[in-house]
Amino acid sequence: MKNRRNILKFGILGLFSVVITACTKAMNGASSPTATDTATNTPSDSVTESSTKGATIAQLSSLKVGEGFNFTANDGSSAILFKTKDEKVYALSRICTHQGCLVNFDLGQNKLICPCHGAMYETVEGNVISGPTTKNLKKINVKIDGDNIVEDI
Ligand code: FES
Repeated sequence: MKNRRNILKFGILGLFSVVITACTKAMNGASSPTATDTATNTPSDSVTESSTKGATIAQLSSLKVGEGFNFTANDGSSAILFKTKDEKVYALSRICTHQGCLVNFDLGQNKLICPCHGAMYETVEGNVISGPTTKNLKKINVKIDGDNIVEDI
């Protein structure tokens, strides 16, 4: 009988700890900016993540027009790079100006969308399309150097 009580007691404790762990994970997932990347990082094999000044972000020839390429800016923040049909490049910070979640590029809508509260930004200037924020995404200056795209500091 005492054995049954112990089994029941440990079973309840085990179940309780599973519930607590699941709740903690759910709460962390809801408040942290751990968005799923939807940008295409196809050329990542040939890309050096930019964490030092002047480092190559990507090769111009390997970037696809209209697709976003996520990279780490020189200041360590997450950013996204785009190439236009006429081979111009531009980059925006991925840090949402509302509460700092990382925005994702939606290829179908051609917009940057925040997964936390739904803010939407257009992709060229980073202008707000819809809130809750009213502040545009920060621009990151990039330039073409041969076939390399580098941050212009
Ligand atoms: Fe992006 Fe709230 S953090 S909309």
